[in-house]
Amino acid sequence: MISLRDRLVLITGAASGIGKALVKELAKEGAKLIIADRNAEELEKLKQECLKSTSFCETIQFDLSVPEEVSNAAATVLEKYGTVFLLINNGGISMRSLAAETPIEIDRKIMEIDFFAHIILTKALLPSMIAKGEGCIAATSSLSGKFGFHQRSSYSAAKHAIQGYYETLRMEIAHQGISVTIAYPGSINTSISVNAIEKDGKPHGIMDPAQAKGMSAENCAKHYLKAIRKGKPEVLIGGKEFIMFHLKRFFPSIFFRVIGKIKAT
Ligand SMILES: NC(=O)c1ccc[n+]([C@@H]2O[C@H](COP(=O)([O-])OP(=O)(O)OC[C@H]3O[C@@H](n4cnc5c(N)ncnc54)[C@H](OP(=O)(O)O)[C@@H]3O)[C@@H](O)[C@H]2O)c1
Repeated sequence: MISLRDRLVLITGAASGIGKALVKELAKEGAKLIIADRNAEELEKLKQECLKSTSFCETIQFDLSVPEEVSNAAATVLEKYGTVFLLINNGGISMRSLAAETPIEIDRKIMEIDFFAHIILTKALLPSMIAKGEGCIAATSSLSGKFGFHQRSSYSAAKHAIQGYYETLRMEIAHQGISVTIAYPGSINTSISVNAIEKDGKPHGIMDPAQAKGMSAENCAKHYLKAIRKGKPEVLIGGKEFIMFHLKRFFPSIFFRVIGKIKAT
């Protein structure tokens, strides 16, 4: 089991939901934190809270939808703080829009935030991890990364892309002392559906009942970190929503009949 005490951790999407819960757990463990988000005010509040339990917490603000900002942020982190031990690619945005009605700009924006930003950061930080011969990379996928679902076309595509990319990376760098963990949360009680974008790019603004009844972000963070510490390749986090995952695996024809009838909320 890997200890994260005094280890340098960079986490995106840190100021809200699952990211915020991960940050609080990591602070309790005494990790050295670099917390990334767009929301400066929330980051500062979180930093002050973390500094009650850990000696090191710095903030960095950048927009995951702007590749240059992501590259610059990675360069800043390396220059100011050195080699990151654990990178948690967690920031993300969901959608509520039919594939046929979604403008390509929205599809590209979702892919940029939910996929390309993560691999930009990973590519930038990986060489120093390899040079040190240690490190962990984590990526937050989703149950939507295991099967497509109504009104989630590009979100689901980005989350599937996460799986393909990080599974490949894992096998390529396993012998260099670096673990890769992909987390697949199901329904977690955060604002993800409220912040999801519609076809016009505006926030959906509605709390999904499944998320409202879902696992707490705190509980999700505990499962997520346990998997990272153990160097597990993947972790499924949630409750009965994973029945659909198992149904697809073992009874795909029943799965495809059922999933099409479940409407998006
Ligand atoms: N909640 C669930 O049920 C669920 C299920 C499966 C997967 N996930 C995944 O879990 C991760 C965290 O989501 P969450 O549930 O915690 O939702 P959330 O509360 O909406 O958090 C999303 C985080 O991503 C950040 N983010 C979004 N767009 C960004 C951008 N352009 N630039 C920088 N940061 C950006 C947000 O920052 P701002 O505060 O600046 O908006 C926020 O911190 C996401 O990857 C999501 O896909 C969640």
